[in-house]
Amino acid sequence: MNFGVIGAGQMGGGIAQVAAHSGFDVVVQDVQQAFLDRGRATIEKSLAKLHEKGKLADAPDVVLGRIRFTTELQDFADSDLVVEAIVENEAVKAELFRTLGGIVKPSGILASNTSSIPITALASASGRPERFIGMHFMNPVPLMKLVEVIRGYQTSDETARIVTETAEKMGKTPLTCNDFPGFVSNRILMPMLNEAIQCVMEGVADKEAIDGIMKLGMNHPMGPLTLADFIGLDTCLSIMEVLHRGLGDDKYRPSPLLRKMVQAGLLGRKSGQGFYTY
Ligand code: CAA
Ligand code: NAD
Repeated sequence: MNFGVIGAGQMGGGIAQVAAHSGFDVVVQDVQQAFLDRGRATIEKSLAKLHEKGKLADAPDVVLGRIRFTTELQDFADSDLVVEAIVENEAVKAELFRTLGGIVKPSGILASNTSSIPITALASASGRPERFIGMHFMNPVPLMKLVEVIRGYQTSDETARIVTETAEKMGKTPLTCNDFPGFVSNRILMPMLNEAIQCVMEGVADKEAIDGIMKLGMNHPMGPLTLADFIGLDTCLSIMEVLHRGLGDDKYRPSPLLRKMVQAGLLGRKSGQGFYTY
């Protein structure tokens, strides 16, 4: 299978890595060579770690050799499946899918790794709604088992079948849901992270105590503030905005502290500073 990935950030890089590890030929595109270089370095580090633990079937170089890095969207012309993992912004994603719909061969499936944006709207922009689907990987992609498969209003059974089988070939467990804001994963997860941020703002406890209470008390692998930093505070804010707009209820209103931190450029791990320093 010719597997395409758009965006070489934390998610796109991880998806490309796992696809290559599964034996697919992968093309990864980003807007600048510097972002591709950064993505490649992250993949190399992750492959080295997995190799050290005996969790790679092939040598890291062999896996990396299956990935081609490019800045050209035209390189997706022959792709069987393209997964988009760029910034969580509906207008930017829709514009990309409008362009991509005219480039990828007609039989190719387009998928979005969006955390929350309506799949049906992106499908419509692509001009091939029956061959469009949500393929939502979890972070960090090489370690997390779930792929949330989101069917848009016109997604065909055949598209859903191919994408489900592809996720399985990638060693993941696909679980399907319908197209509602935030799907299942982020409709449930993100209000909890937002509430933890609201607790910081209101002075309910200090950040270490909030994280410690949720980690030790609920047996979560990471506290909610650590996890928000890990996901990216810009992404968390975008998801909350989609939930708030799409579901209407005030319980989804983004915390003002989350908004302020994003305005200040404190995006979490990827910017070096969020609730913690990296
Ligand atoms: N590739 C390869 N190895 C990795 C890795 C990666 N990307 N990330 C971490 N590791 C390795 C670490 O190096 C470490 O190796 P050693 O044992 O040799 O030190 C090992 O995995 C375990 O990691 P840690 O000791 O740092 O920490 P951990 O045991 O807590 O496991 C974790 C890490 C799996 C990330 C765990 O903390 C976890 O499950 N956290 C929660 C993740 C989560 O909730 N993800 C979903 C986010 S929401 C989402 O993705 C959807 C959305 O739309 C926002
Ligand atoms: P990121 O900021 O790490 O990476 C985004 C990448 O996309 C960057 O390298 C950027 O240069 C590139 N990009 C931006 N616009 C582009 C365009 N028009 N064409 C090509 N490349 C472009 O973000 P991320 O955390 O990897 O998130 C990517 C997507 O995955 C978002 O939709 C996000 O909601 C979703 N997602 C994120 C997580 C998470 O935990 N971070 C989990 C699941 C899904």
